[in-house]
Amino acid sequence: MSGQAKALIFDLDGVVVFTDKYHYLGWKKLADENGWSFDEEFNNNLRGVSRMKSLELMLEHNGLDLPEDEKNRLADRKNEYYKELLQRINESDLYPGAVGFVKKVRERGLKTALASSSKNAQAVLVALDLEPLFDAVVTGNDITLSKPDPEIFLLAAKKLGMKPEDCVVFEDAGSGVEAAHRAGMRAVGVGPVETVGAAEIVMQDYAELDLENVLSGA
Ligand code: BG6
Ligand code: MG
Repeated sequence: MSGQAKALIFDLDGVVVFTDKYHYLGWKKLADENGWSFDEEFNNNLRGVSRMKSLELMLEHNGLDLPEDEKNRLADRKNEYYKELLQRINESDLYPGAVGFVKKVRERGLKTALASSSKNAQAVLVALDLEPLFDAVVTGNDITLSKPDPEIFLLAAKKLGMKPEDCVVFEDAGSGVEAAHRAGMRAVGVGPVETVGAAEIVMQDYAELDLENVLSGA
């Protein structure tokens, strides 16, 4: 980090909106239907991870190896469950304080980007009218490599016209914190130390977060 950060990049699921809960419920339904072992602790490994990679991790966890067409069918099925849950999404699903924090950041003249591995991210942004909060949006449709690969954050920085070292990433996923670091960016971990402890700052409450510390890396 060369000095004061000039841009903040936010993950979506579990950072701005509690859609991480709906991803979990989608996988849980699929797991229960198939008699697979799956719980919230294992689900933490799936945060930030693409749909297909998540399915493969679940299968591996259960000692299973399935043909490609069957994996595609199962991944599609989970996505149907997730999209059903999204139909009910509303403002009560927003992470408390997140929208106010992003607005404060923008009022200070900083750039903001949204970087989500989800191919459903745009639909969530539209449903909750969050698009105006971000100067750039990168979703699972724009990348080929899942977090912890840094591709998504490097693309977000590029879209913002920023150098990686001038960006700070907000993430609820261990894989996302790793991706930020591999991109040459600092990270604010949103959630428990067990999951995002590798981040420079760890927090769970936007109201308690000191923006100056985020920007300076203090
Ligand atoms: C990430 C979530 O944001 O998006 C993961 O943390 C999810 O849980 C991934 O698997 C991909 O989402 P989608 O909507 O493309 O299946
Ligand atoms: Mg997330």
